[in-house]
Amino acid sequence: MEPVKITDNVFWVGAVDYDIRDFHGYLTPKGSTYNAYLVVDDVVTLIDTVRHGFEDELLSRISKVIDPAKIDQVISNHAEMDHSGSLPGIMRAIGADKPVYASAMGVKNLHGQFPGAALNLKDVAKETPRTGKYTFQFLDTKMIHWPDSMFTFLPERGILFSQDGFGLHYASVDRFDDQVPAELLRRLAVNYFANILTPYTAQIGKVLETVKSSGLLEKIRIICPDHGVVWRAEPSKIVNLYGRLVSQKPERKAVVVFDTMWHSTEYMARELTDLLGSRGVETVYLSLKHCHRSEVATEAYEAAAVLVGTPTINNQMFPSIADLLCYLKSLKMKNKIGASFGSYGWSGEGAKLVQAELAAMGWKLPSPEVRVQWVPQEPSLEPLKALGKTVADEIDKIVTAS
Ligand code: FEO
Repeated sequence: MEPVKITDNVFWVGAVDYDIRDFHGYLTPKGSTYNAYLVVDDVVTLIDTVRHGFEDELLSRISKVIDPAKIDQVISNHAEMDHSGSLPGIMRAIGADKPVYASAMGVKNLHGQFPGAALNLKDVAKETPRTGKYTFQFLDTKMIHWPDSMFTFLPERGILFSQDGFGLHYASVDRFDDQVPAELLRRLAVNYFANILTPYTAQIGKVLETVKSSGLLEKIRIICPDHGVVWRAEPSKIVNLYGRLVSQKPERKAVVVFDTMWHSTEYMARELTDLLGSRGVETVYLSLKHCHRSEVATEAYEAAAVLVGTPTINNQMFPSIADLLCYLKSLKMKNKIGASFGSYGWSGEGAKLVQAELAAMGWKLPSPEVRVQWVPQEPSLEPLKALGKTVADEIDKIVTAS
């Protein structure tokens, strides 16, 4: 396994996970990478490690640059297992007593995750890592997206090691932004942001502000995240995209997502999709029989409205819809219009329960739920058409106002 030179004395030595598809409940159709970086100076520093099981790949790449035993210290920007899972094994290879620098919370979390590992953990706020020609600066990025998260900046090279920030899930031999089509990178970055970072947009907004106001932004020449490509061609592009995404500004777009038992709720979803489309709203039709909850989150992120359809089964919403709503609720998306609909046989609680969940998310609900008993047909579709019209009107208002 070969390392990839980022710039003089700085190498990518991470691992490529071509097979991963379920990343703690989030679909990763293009796999992922666990990026780690080696800074070879008078003092040799490894920044982050890889998921457990990829130790040999990491050590193999490091060995092409330097004997792993010559690594003097490790910086852990983020303690989540995809970047720390191999830490105990790597420390055994490079020297168990070598220091591992992390934020105060990182020290606590790594102790908690590896209680038997006797790691030599140091808080970067209390003890500065050794340096040679290069120095390290640390930026507290708490809750982006874990309490321990921090960025490390290498000013002499203008490199920001940004852990999960500015990452994306993409397994490939391509290591740099200029090797991958820009539209694909945008799509993957939005997918990543929507599913991992949405609950922390306020914190991300503050960090972006600090990066700008402190003058750090002008000094950044390369961004090295812990997943996906290194941003060397246009690092400002991903920073600007994050600036847009944290605003949660709604687009003239709607998502119609549903599950169905005997095609009746599906029929209602198709009617709503037609109606919204005819009003000039970009409308994404998603059946949970064919798509994953994280695809819904990605499509919903920049949409103004999310319309959720469910049948009623045993007095409840459909289980796949409950799963979706639990997931969306955890992401805490803002500035959304919600609506619910569904067909039923004899009791019809499903759509009402969905409506209550959407209200609990703080979304604007311009209409009561619309339910159709048995098979939808004229004139029972009139309330559904009215719902589509109301939602389209609300989208016009919210997009104009934002
Ligand atoms: Fe890539 Fe939060 O771990």
